[in-house]
Order: sequence, then C-alpha cells, then structure tokens
Amino acid sequence: MTKRRSAAWYGKLDRDGFIHRSWMKNQGFPDHVFDGRPIIGICNTWSELTPCNSGLRDLAEGVKRGVWEAGGFPVEFPVTSLGETQMKPTAMLFRNLLAMDVEESIRAYGIDGVVLLGGCDKTTPGQVMGACSVDLPSIVVSSGPMLNGKWRGRDIGSGTDVWKFSEAVRAGDMTLADFMAAESGMSRSKGVCMTMGTASTMSSLMEAMGLSLPTNGALPAVDARRMALAHLTGKRIVEMVEEDLKPSDILTKAAFENAIVANAAVGGSTNAVVHLLAIAGRVGVDLSLDDIAAGADVPLLVNCMPSGKYLMEDFAYAGGVPAVLAQLRDRLRPARTVLGGDIAAYAEGAEILNDDVIRPVSNPVKPAAGLRVLRGNLAPDGAIVKPSAATDRLLEHEGPAHVFENIEDMKANIDRDDLPVTPDTVLVLKGCGPKGYPGMPEVGNMPIPAKLVKDGVRDMVRVSDARMSGTAFGTVILHVAPEAQAGGPLALVQTGDRVRVSVAEGRLDLLVDDAELAARRAKWQPDPPRYDRGYAKLYVDTVLQADRGADLDFLVGKDTRPVTRESH
Ligand code: FES
Repeated sequence: MTKRRSAAWYGKLDRDGFIHRSWMKNQGFPDHVFDGRPIIGICNTWSELTPCNSGLRDLAEGVKRGVWEAGGFPVEFPVTSLGETQMKPTAMLFRNLLAMDVEESIRAYGIDGVVLLGGCDKTTPGQVMGACSVDLPSIVVSSGPMLNGKWRGRDIGSGTDVWKFSEAVRAGDMTLADFMAAESGMSRSKGVCMTMGTASTMSSLMEAMGLSLPTNGALPAVDARRMALAHLTGKRIVEMVEEDLKPSDILTKAAFENAIVANAAVGGSTNAVVHLLAIAGRVGVDLSLDDIAAGADVPLLVNCMPSGKYLMEDFAYAGGVPAVLAQLRDRLRPARTVLGGDIAAYAEGAEILNDDVIRPVSNPVKPAAGLRVLRGNLAPDGAIVKPSAATDRLLEHEGPAHVFENIEDMKANIDRDDLPVTPDTVLVLKGCGPKGYPGMPEVGNMPIPAKLVKDGVRDMVRVSDARMSGTAFGTVILHVAPEAQAGGPLALVQTGDRVRVSVAEGRLDLLVDDAELAARRAKWQPDPPRYDRGYAKLYVDTVLQADRGADLDFLVGKDTRPVTRESH
C-alpha cells in the first residue's frame, strides 16, 4: 500500500507511533484501522450558536458511513463556527480566523483528506480558504437550506422578507404583532437561509466549481437525499486520496470563471465576490474584479428571492444546480471536479422540472444579471452592484450625497423627520469596510429614510464600503475600495456633493474637482482604531481591501511542506 501522509503519525513502530495510536484507541478503535488506510478528517462547523449548521452532526454520520464503506477511517473534528445571525460585530470579522483554524488543524493532524462540513455564510469560504492553503484532497458537503418559510398561507423567505416586513412596520403597513408572529414561521427546520442568500450561493458555487458532488447546492437540509449525498461524499473522498486529487487540481482559473457565470445565473450574493477572490488568493489563481465583470451578460435563470419570487426548496425540486449548468453548457469552461471528470458531467441528464423556477436561457428572469463592477474617482479600486436586485431606473443616476460618517451616525439619524433627503439623494455610508468597522459588515443596504418610506419610496441609490446580506435587495453599491478608513476617496465625500452612477458605463464618480478633494485630503485623519489587542487587532493591521478578498495579507497562498517535528 502507498505510504500516506497519515503514516507519519500512525504507521511508526516506535514511541511516537505508540503515542499517536494509543490515545486514539481510547475511543474504541481496533488495531486494524491503523493499517495504513486513508484517514479522513471531517471538519465540522456544527454549533448551536450557528443554527444554520445545526444539522451537520447528522451529516457527519452520513459521511462516516461512506468513509468506512470505502475502506477509510473517518475522524471528525470541530473548528470555530460562525453564526451569521448571532455574532457581533459581524461574522465576516472571523472568516479569516476560521480559515486559519481549518488550515492549522488539517496540517497539524495525521489525516490524508478532508470533508468540509459548512453552510452558514462565512463557514463555507472560511473552510475552503483554509483547506486550499494545505492542499490535501478536500470535498465540501453543505448544510442545505431550511424548508420554505410559511406564514399566513404563503411562503416567506429568510432575510428577504425580514427586510420587507421591517420596512412595512416602519411604513405603518404591518402591525408589530404580525411582525413578531412571522418570526416562528420563517425558520421551520434545520438548514441555512432558504433564499438565494450567501449560504446557498456558496453551496451552489461549490457545485459549479466542482468542489462538491452534484446536487449539493440546493437539496433541503432535512431531505433524506442530503444524508445520502453525505454518504456518497464520504465514499468519494477516500477515492480522491487514492487519486491524490487536490483543490489545486480542481480550482483552476476556469473553475472560478464557471463560478462567476453560475453566480449570475442563480442570482447569487454579492458576497461571493470577496469569497471567490479570497479563495483564489489561497490557491494561487490570478482572479480580479475584471474577471467578475466578465459575467455581467449572463442571464438570470433562477427565479429565487431576493432576485425572484421562489425559494431554495422550489429550486431543488425544479432541478437544482445541475439543471442550471445544463442551460449554461455553452458558457462553461472545461474544469475538473471532485469526481475526476469535467464539470460538464454534472449537467448530464439534468433537466428543468419547473420552468418558472428555473428558466431556460430562451426565457430568462432577466437578460443580463451578472454583478457589475464600477470604477471612478469614488472607487479607484472598484465597487460592485447587483443589477438583478436593483431598480432599473436607478442604475443610471446622478444626485446629491447625504453622508453618514459611520454606522452610529446612520442609525441615529436615518429616521429623523428633518433629514434633508429626497428620493434622488444618494445615501453614502463610511467606516464600514474591512478595517473601518472592522470586518466589513452587511449594512450597505441602509434602510430607506422613514420620511421617504411614508411617501412610498422603496429604493434609493446607496453607496458604501460595506457588504450587504445576500438576502437583501436594492440599488446598493458596495465594497467601495479603498475603504474610507484606509483613506479611499469615499472618506472625502461631504453632504451635498453630487455623485454620479452609470452601471452601463461601469462608473462611480464624485463630481467634485481635484483641487477641492486635495484640500479635503490634507485635513483628513483616519478614525482611531477600535481594537488594540487580540485577533481583531491582527485583523485590522493586516486585512486586505475588498478587491483582494479581504483576506489577511500573510495568509494569501499556501504551504504544503510536511510537518516533520514531533511534540514529544
Ligand atoms: Fe446562516 Fe443565512 S444566517 S445561512
């Protein structure tokens, strides 16, 4: 049998081998499982504080069945988990911490391959980033979405309907009692948000990039077929170890380009941009915002919230990601998958089973739905916007800025009756980038000022260095780089300045002359840092800007050297 990585832990007939094996035997493992078979780590982000991942203990059991069946030895281990709806100041602050945890855990333990069990927004990219930096055979199984939310006889979607309900309460169109009642109907089962938010976007992209088995993207968390998928994944990772099929063999530039196309077709989250850029940095693929922009003309095929009307359960039953890939066949580039073949095989035999939920390319929800990249003197290193979730007429707009210097300023003043704004105002929010908040939270979709909500206004142009939830919608320009706290031109905007947006031209400009901007820059000072110790300080000191994926600068790339020193 080929000598595996795990042999350096469990294959030695000396004191070190004794120690590594003996302590594992306290769990009841017999001698023969240390016979050199592939040892498969199951990297689990299960946590009761990450409700979206609360089904992952069950899925881990499914993976173990498959690993044992294929002749491997499964060992489950926990890593830090990131509960998007529970963490403060924002789960994104900790994505890179999870990535470090995953990387160092995989490297430090005697495993030959790894199954990544994630789901909630940041858990998937964090795990994949870490795994890419070690580059052992790796495969993803996602939590899967919750069942459709139900309230008063209709389907309601995670996030998307929360934003709508909360605006309706502010407008006086919904009672607080109804608002509270909708809470229980929204989250009816284990699983991630059942809109096409960041979690389902990333699980769908894992499938489109060939890093999971087919159907991983959309099957509901509680569908027995997801348990079967976990079992099959456990079988497959053992074979991947035999074949030495690693992330670097799968995540080529073509795989990222396929992800960008798929992201547009499913109406995926803007957050996919920072995550794809960060994963690319780990695996050594040269990916930039220009590559993201190349997907702009891809049609929106999946009619799911927030860009459409259905939910993930409907998407799964309509054919899921394989049916979408079949529609995109002509646009997909050849790329290897965890099955060893080409991504085209994922679409073989896949058909649309409900052509209103998944539209054929001949009848898309929107003709050109890819994320757009904007540049100009307000965003020299780029900003992004999601036209499929925006109001068409606002995609070409010029108006006066109303500036909020930070999140506290916005929250304190947005609902003031005398706020000097009109529907043409461009709301500008500073201090919410990677360094500024810190952690680049999902606050870019600022609420519409109350006085305008009462007049029926439901969308306005909003510009910030923040992100927005994948479940959110609106004409929201995000990820402005460089961010205000890093001295980007966003820091220099003042209330009353005119801002011009042209998505058609890919422009975001501040209509203030250079001499005035230079005078403002001479007086500008960054805010004092909010953290002076611990991980948050490390993050603020080393985080890259959004156009580079907001990874920590010293984590970019990988280290595949063997660990040679022993602990005893
Ligand atoms: Fe966890 Fe949406 S909050 S997936």
